[in-house]
Amino acid sequence: MNIKEKLQEIREEAEKRIQSSEGLEQLNEVRVAYLGKKGQLTAVLKGMKEVAPEERPVVGQLVNDARVHIEEFLEETKSRMEQALQEKRLKEEVIDVTLPAAKMETGHRHPNTIALEEVQRIFIGMGYEVVEGPEIEYDLYNFTKLNIPEDHPAKDEQDTFYINKDIVLRTQTSPVQARVMEKGELPIRMIAPGRVFRSDEVDATHSPSFHQIEGLVIDKNITFADLKGTLEEFARQLFGPETKTKFRPHHFPFTEPSAEVDVSCFKCKGAGCRFCKGSGWIEILGCGMVHPHVLEMCGVDPEKYTGFAFGVGLERIALLKYEIDDMRLLYENDIRFLKQF
Ligand code: DAH
Repeated sequence: MNIKEKLQEIREEAEKRIQSSEGLEQLNEVRVAYLGKKGQLTAVLKGMKEVAPEERPVVGQLVNDARVHIEEFLEETKSRMEQALQEKRLKEEVIDVTLPAAKMETGHRHPNTIALEEVQRIFIGMGYEVVEGPEIEYDLYNFTKLNIPEDHPAKDEQDTFYINKDIVLRTQTSPVQARVMEKGELPIRMIAPGRVFRSDEVDATHSPSFHQIEGLVIDKNITFADLKGTLEEFARQLFGPETKTKFRPHHFPFTEPSAEVDVSCFKCKGAGCRFCKGSGWIEILGCGMVHPHVLEMCGVDPEKYTGFAFGVGLERIALLKYEIDDMRLLYENDIRFLKQF
C-alpha cells in the first residue's frame, strides 16, 4: 500500500470512529489515537524518510490535509454532542410553574410562651406592669435583701450556681422585687417573668434552668385579703371559673405571714384523680405579705406601706394546663410535640 492509500484509509477509519463515538470521552480517545504524539498520522510522518525527496512536499501536504480534515470532523462532532447535551439538560431542568408549591412548616409557640402570655394577660388586665431583671445577679439581691440569711440551706452550692462569692445565677425571680422597690417609685404593681437556675439533676419535674413569674404589690393599706382576692381571681381566670383556692400556711424568709396556694383539681373538680394524686388539690404557687425587714432593706417605709408578693413556676403552669406529665418534653423542642399546642 502506498502512502496515499494509507492516508486515505486512516481518514476513513478516523471518520468511522468519530461517527460511532458515544460521548466526549470517546471522542478524545479518537483524537489521541490519530493526532496524538504516538498517533497514526504522526507515525506516517516518521515514515517520510522512505519517500523520494521530490515527493516529500506532496506527501507532507497530504498528511496535513488529513490532519486538518480529522480535526475539523472532530470539532464539528464535539460541538454537536455538546449542543445535544445542553438541550437534554435544559429539558430536564424545566420548571413546571403549574405544580402546587411545597408546603412551608410554620412555627408554633412553645407551651411555656403560651402559658406566660396567658398569665401576663390576666395580670395586665388587673393593672400590673411587666418588668424584667438580670439572670446573673448579686448575692445581695438574690439572698440578702430578701432576708435569706448567710447560713440558709438555699445558699448551699448544691442548690445555687455561684459565679464568684458575690455573684450567682439567680435562683428565683424574687430579686426583681428588691430592685423595683429600691427605685422608690410607689405604689408598685408588677409581675417579673424570667429564667432561674438551680443546681438540680434533670428529671420529670426538675431542670437546672426553668422559669418563674414573680408578683409584687406595694401600697398603703394592702392586706392579706388583697392577696387572697388577687390570687383567687388569677386561678379562676387561668383554670376556669369554678376553680377553688386553698391557702396553706408556709414559710418563706421574705414574707410574713407566708402561704402556699393550692387550686381545686380542674380535671376531676376535686373528687381525686391521677392528676392531683387523689387529693383533689394541686399546688401552684408560694406567696405572702412582704416582710417588714425586706421593705426596710429596700428603702420602703414599713410604717407607711405594706404589700404582698407571690412566685409561680411557669413550667408548672404549662404542664398543668396542657396535661403534660414530663417537664423534659418542654426542653427537647421536638416539633411533633410542639405542634400540638
Ligand atoms: N421565690 C420562691 C421560690 O423560688 C417563690 C416565692 C414564694 C416567691 C413566695 C414569692 C413569695 O414572692 O412571696 O420558691
